[in-house]
Amino acid sequence: MADFKNKVIYQIYPKSFCDTNHDGIGDINGIISKLDYLQELGVDMIWMCPIFASPQRDSGYDIKDYYHIDPIFGTMKDLEHLIAEAKKKNIDLMFDMVFNHTSTEHEWFQKALKGNEKYKNYYFFKKGKDGKLPTNWDSKFGGKAWKYVPEFNEYYLHLYDEKQADLNWKNEEVRNELIKIINYWLDKGIRGFRFDVINNIDKREFTDSSDGIGKQYYCDQPKVHDYLHELNTKSFGLVEGTVTVGEMSATSVENCIGYTRPDNKELDMVFSFHHLKVDYLNKDKWTSMPFDFQELKDLLNTWQVKMQGGNGWNALFWNCHDQPRSVSRFGNDKKYRKESAKMLATTIHMMRGTPYIYQGEEIGMTNHYFTDIQQYKDVESINAYRILKEKGLDEKDIHQILQEKSRDNSRTPMQWDSSLNGGFSDVKPWLQSNQNYKDINVENDLKDSDSIFRYYQKLIQLRKTYKIISDGSYVPFLENHEVIFAYKRYYQDEELIVLNNYYDENTTVNIPHVQEYKVLISNYKEHNLKDTLTLRPYETIVLYK
Ligand code: GLC
Ligand code: CA
Repeated sequence: MADFKNKVIYQIYPKSFCDTNHDGIGDINGIISKLDYLQELGVDMIWMCPIFASPQRDSGYDIKDYYHIDPIFGTMKDLEHLIAEAKKKNIDLMFDMVFNHTSTEHEWFQKALKGNEKYKNYYFFKKGKDGKLPTNWDSKFGGKAWKYVPEFNEYYLHLYDEKQADLNWKNEEVRNELIKIINYWLDKGIRGFRFDVINNIDKREFTDSSDGIGKQYYCDQPKVHDYLHELNTKSFGLVEGTVTVGEMSATSVENCIGYTRPDNKELDMVFSFHHLKVDYLNKDKWTSMPFDFQELKDLLNTWQVKMQGGNGWNALFWNCHDQPRSVSRFGNDKKYRKESAKMLATTIHMMRGTPYIYQGEEIGMTNHYFTDIQQYKDVESINAYRILKEKGLDEKDIHQILQEKSRDNSRTPMQWDSSLNGGFSDVKPWLQSNQNYKDINVENDLKDSDSIFRYYQKLIQLRKTYKIISDGSYVPFLENHEVIFAYKRYYQDEELIVLNNYYDENTTVNIPHVQEYKVLISNYKEHNLKDTLTLRPYETIVLYK
C-alpha cells in the first residue's frame, strides 16, 4: 500500500490545460510544458481526466478504446514522454478509469449491436415490460435510463448519457477485460487510478423503484465491494506504490469505510459529494440557493469523524471538473477573492485525508458567468437547459442556475498569463476563456509572494512537515458557531486548532491560553493572540502547539 497520507494530488482537465499545437484544445505536450510549474507547487501526483480514444460526447467519459490515446491529446509517444518527464520530477500520473460504462462507439457495443451474443452480454439489453421500459429508472443526465434498439425490440441501460452504455459487471469476461486494461497501464508506468462512478457498477435487481429514480437497485450494492477487491488483488494491488480513489456518487459513509479500510483491500480513498449539495434546493442540483453553512459543517465533520472511526480515508476536495468554482460558490469571488480562496483551501488541507487541487484553484479561478446557452459545451448543462425550458422557467432564471451550477464553470481554459486566451492557446479555445484572465493568472501569482499560489505551496509543505496534519486525529470544534468552521487535530502531545471565518464580517471566538500557540499559517499578516480572538472577513488561522 502506498503512503498517500502526506501526498497532494493535482487534477488536470487536459482539454483546458495548455494547447501546444494550435487547435484550441489542450494536449499532452502542454502538460509536459508545465511540469516545472507543478513541481514548484509541490504536488506528488497528477490525475488526468480521460485522454483515451473517445467521441467526446461527455468530454472523454465516453471511451471507445481504453488502449489508445485520443488524437486530440497527442500520441502514445507523447504520453510515454510525459510519464518519463514527470518521474524525473517525482511526480506520478493517475489515470481516470471509466468502467461503469463505455461509449456506444466502443467495439464491444458495436459488436453487440450487430447481434453478437457474447458482446450483448457485456451490457444490459432488456425487453420492455407491458409496453413500458424495463425499469422506471432515471438517467443522471436527464430523461430515462433506457434506449430502445428496434432491431432487437430491446432497450439498453445508460445511467448517464444515451451514448454511454452501462457495462455488465456480473459478467466475468467484462471484469477480466477491465483488469487487463489496468495492468496494461501499470506496465506503462501509470501509478494512480481514479475510478469513475464506481459505486454504480452492481445493478442488483431490475425492478421499478417507487421514486422513479432507481438508486436503491444500483448504487452502493453489496457486490461493489467484491468487484473492487477482485480488481485490487488482480491488478493495482500487486504493484507497490499505486494510489487509488473511487468516485462515489450518492454514497454512504458506512460503505465508504468498507471501500477504503486497508484490510478490505479495495481502494485507498473515496470522493464523496454530500458536502457539495448544500446549495441544492430540495436536493435538486438545477436550482439556485445560497449554501447552507451549518449543513456544510455537519457533513464535513460527520465524514471526518466516521471515516476516522472506521479506519477509512477521504479524498479532500472542493473543486473538480464536475463542480463550479469553490471561490465563487462558498467564498467571495469579488472583494475577498484572495482571502476566501485561501480560507477554503485551509479548511480542506488541514483535514484528515488526501487533498486534491483542481487546475486553476491554486490561483483562485472563478466561475465564468456565461450568458448564452451557445457558450456551453457540457452535455449535462445543455440537457438541463432544455429540461428547465420545458418546465417553463424564465430564460433569465435558467441562466442564473447554469451560471451557478454548470460544470463548464470549471472547464474554462487555465489562465497562465495576460496574453490572448490567458496564454492557454493562440487560437480560439474549444470553450471560451474567462475574461478575467488579465488579472487572474499564473504569471501574476508567481510574482506575488502573498498570492494564492504561494499559499497553496505552503499548505502542501506543511502537510509534508507536520505529522499532525497527515496522521493526526480529527475533532470537531465550535460545531454550532454561525460563521466559523473550526476543528482540532491531535498527534502525540501536539495540537492544531483550525479556525475559518466563512463570512465577510468580523467575528470573535474564545481560545483560552491562546498565547501558548504559534500561528502556522493564515491569510492575514498581523495577529494579536488574545484569549478572545477576532477573525476578520474570511480569515483563516491555524494555531499549533
Ligand atoms: C463522473 C465524471 C463525470 C462524468 C460521469 C459519467 O461523474 O466525473 O465527468 O460525466 O462520471 O462518466
Ligand atoms: Ca492541442
